Amino acid sequence: MGRVHASEHPLIQHKLTLLRSVDTEPKKFRELVREISILLAYEATADLAVAPKEVTTPLAHTTGLSLSEKIGLIPILRAGLGMVEGIWEMMPTAQVWHIGLYRDHRTLQPVAYYNKLPVSPTVQVCLILDPMLATGGSAVAAADMLKQWGARRIKYLGIIAAPEGVRNLEAHHPDVDIHLGTIDDQLTPEPAAPGDPPKGYILPGLGDAGDRQFGTG
Ligand code: PRP
Ligand code: URA
Repeated sequence: MGRVHASEHPLIQHKLTLLRSVDTEPKKFRELVREISILLAYEATADLAVAPKEVTTPLAHTTGLSLSEKIGLIPILRAGLGMVEGIWEMMPTAQVWHIGLYRDHRTLQPVAYYNKLPVSPTVQVCLILDPMLATGGSAVAAADMLKQWGARRIKYLGIIAAPEGVRNLEAHHPDVDIHLGTIDDQLTPEPAAPGDPPKGYILPGLGDAGDRQFGTG
């Protein structure tokens, strides 16, 4: 069964506060996404399988451990892209497979626009990377796509989640481990007055993670 892990790590919480700030510019925002992602991946990969491996040091021969499963990093375009580089540096043999999904602003339903996964799976563990888990529609769709591909073990890594999104992902994919920087209060409702934020954003959240990384807001 999958489990929901909301990090309580002080470094993640400190960086999250900087990330949320409306004053954080795209360059700093990207840096923080990268750093938080590395810390999240450290927590999320604690149960990866290892196998004994012989190694010769300058002093002796000994037996160490080596990762024994092939890992896939699956960023959800666009916002998941910023989570790749740092994690990839920690596990440079990982494969990176991109999935393109955007949310229809009116219906909040995910729309798939890019998927070049080969016919059969080439990795044993898939890490879905997407900073925002809002309604959960995109995460559910990504996990659906990976399972149709034949992926057997999937972990979701997100920076900020709404409770609604966590419940949705858990309900559709109870076998997926969910690793989060934090779980916020709620999603924004339908705007009641001019100037209200659009519906379906995470509160307090950080706004639009794609726009804030790519300077397109
Ligand atoms: C954002 C985010 C997730 C999705 C989360 O992407 O990166 O993919 O919204 O929302 P959900 O849980 O309600 O599906 P967005 O659709 O804004 O696309 P972008 O990354 O290209 O900006
Ligand atoms: N996508 C974002 O980028 N931010 C949200 O708050 C919700 C979905």
